[in-house]
Amino acid sequence: MKEEPLPPKLTEREELLLEVGTNTNDYRDISQHLKVLNLGCGTSLLAEELFETDGFLDILNIDLSPFCIRQMRQRAVKQKLPETIVFKQMDCRLIKLPSDSVNLVIDKATLDSLLCGNRAFKKTAQMLDEVQRVLKIGGMYLAISFAPPESRLLHLQRAHLGWHIETIEIQRNDSGH
Ligand SMILES: C[S@@+](CC[C@H](N)C(=O)[O-])C[C@H]1O[C@@H](n2cnc3c(N)ncnc32)[C@H](O)[C@@H]1O
Repeated sequence: MKEEPLPPKLTEREELLLEVGTNTNDYRDISQHLKVLNLGCGTSLLAEELFETDGFLDILNIDLSPFCIRQMRQRAVKQKLPETIVFKQMDCRLIKLPSDSVNLVIDKATLDSLLCGNRAFKKTAQMLDEVQRVLKIGGMYLAISFAPPESRLLHLQRAHLGWHIETIEIQRNDSGH
């Protein structure tokens, strides 16, 4: 959670949604007003599920791979997703969005991906700096990782980010996901 000593820009209800992260209908009227950035979307159906299950409408999905973005755009048309769910080729280390403009950044295995490559720590720091920049005060970065927390926390706990961090262990379901 991005923190600052200024009064939070989110309303109490928006904060509640981000805290609870629920998918009950009570929150759909809030989630539709929140701006979501999905980092390294790949060809995952996460954006579609965020729309269908949780009512998120304003989702920018980015990935470095033009192949993934082309495929996801075709799928979005086929699935008749709203035009506010957008897929763009973009480097998550150079996010083309204004500062303080996003309520929720979701990263499913993209941090993992950067940490598996070369110059891993530098690239990770660049991405997290960008996440910090684009998040609104009170906004949230949700990193879903397949690695043990201790191997990720050292990156997230860097002092200049100033984040309040919570770790939640998610059990794999029957299909192994
Ligand atoms: C492990 S995959 C996860 C994909 C998807 N989030 C999922 O859960 O299936 C990591 C994704 O991050 C993307 N990626 C890697 N480096 C990136 C960067 N610098 N900027 C944007 N996307 C990147 C890859 O192209 C890939 O699609």
